[in-house]
Amino acid sequence: MKYERTFNFSAGPAMMPEPVLEEIRDEMMNYRGSGMCVMEMSHRSAVYQQIVDEAEQDLRDLMGIPDNYKVLFIQGGATLQFSMIPMNLMKNGKAVYIETGAWSKKAIAEAKKVGEVTVVSSKDRNYAYIPDCSDLDIPEDTDYVYICENETIHGTTWQTMPNTKGHVLVSDQSSMFLSKPCNVSDYGMIYAGVQKNVGPAGMVVVIIREDLIRDDVDNLPIYLQYKTHAEGGSMYNTPNCWAIYCCGKVFKYLKNLGGLEVIEKMNQEKAKVLYDFLDSSEMFTGTVDKEVRSLMNVPFVTASKELDAEVVAATKKAGYDNLKGHKSVGGLRASIYNAMPKEGVEALVDFLKKFEAEHK
Ligand SMILES: Cc1ncc(COP(=O)(O)O)c(C=O)c1O
Repeated sequence: MKYERTFNFSAGPAMMPEPVLEEIRDEMMNYRGSGMCVMEMSHRSAVYQQIVDEAEQDLRDLMGIPDNYKVLFIQGGATLQFSMIPMNLMKNGKAVYIETGAWSKKAIAEAKKVGEVTVVSSKDRNYAYIPDCSDLDIPEDTDYVYICENETIHGTTWQTMPNTKGHVLVSDQSSMFLSKPCNVSDYGMIYAGVQKNVGPAGMVVVIIREDLIRDDVDNLPIYLQYKTHAEGGSMYNTPNCWAIYCCGKVFKYLKNLGGLEVIEKMNQEKAKVLYDFLDSSEMFTGTVDKEVRSLMNVPFVTASKELDAEVVAATKKAGYDNLKGHKSVGGLRASIYNAMPKEGVEALVDFLKKFEAEHK
């Protein structure tokens, strides 16, 4: 790889597109004649306002976000949303959460501090599948139905959205944001921590339908109200200026690439290389049901913990980074987000094939 970079299979922070990093490098010392780096700029300056406005517009174009949705850039990562969502959206104090892995489990724990939570779970098989949500029992006064659309640790992704029976759908898209087209109007709210598919850590993008931004939440800390961020144009306080700038570059990069249909096709081709190998291998096995396999996070195991550890050590030595699986699943996990080139996956598969042949 150029610059002696490694193929980094981290679940996040993760690889960024090289042309974006190069552009950032070129603008580092003097952003477009401003005489300063974006890191040094006042967030109240005209030059920075243009960066935020352009980032928002590019994201709107990319996802086709309807006008009645606000786009917010908020700090606190995706984790803060586990609390902000129930605090702001539980008008009647009731929600249905679909527990498909570690991240929805964390969100449920926070929601339970705020109201009554009905949980539908796939815990019985260590989250290897997505529960059937075509006919959920949803009380009429339920405020929203919550899903984690791609479970980063367990490696599942939703193929068919739950039937919310007219209720608001809230989705954590952190580990699949912008990996494929998305019909925003199917959701009340989408949010994504950006450090996987978009930019540097420490920021979340929230896309929320305007009617869900409540006026009557003055009892909440001001920073935890969506209203504050909406009215302040994501600048109630000093935002994560650097992250917004970097994310804006990635939005533009994806637009220039041809949009989300194009990146989806690339992601499908890339994931197929790895899944085809796993399906044919006698040593490695994918850990989730085939029909809900994630295009972004691919967990797999060998027959023993010892062999898993040996493979992880061997991949690291060979220059493939961050392949150790999460402790709750074990084995290995290859995170192959938008910016992972297909050659990276092909090289990894070649390496694993060789490893398998040598350890028969
Ligand atoms: C699906 C999902 N949701 C939420 C989070 C939490 O994100 P953050 O670390 O930005 O708070 C993660 C982090 O990996 C994640 O994968």
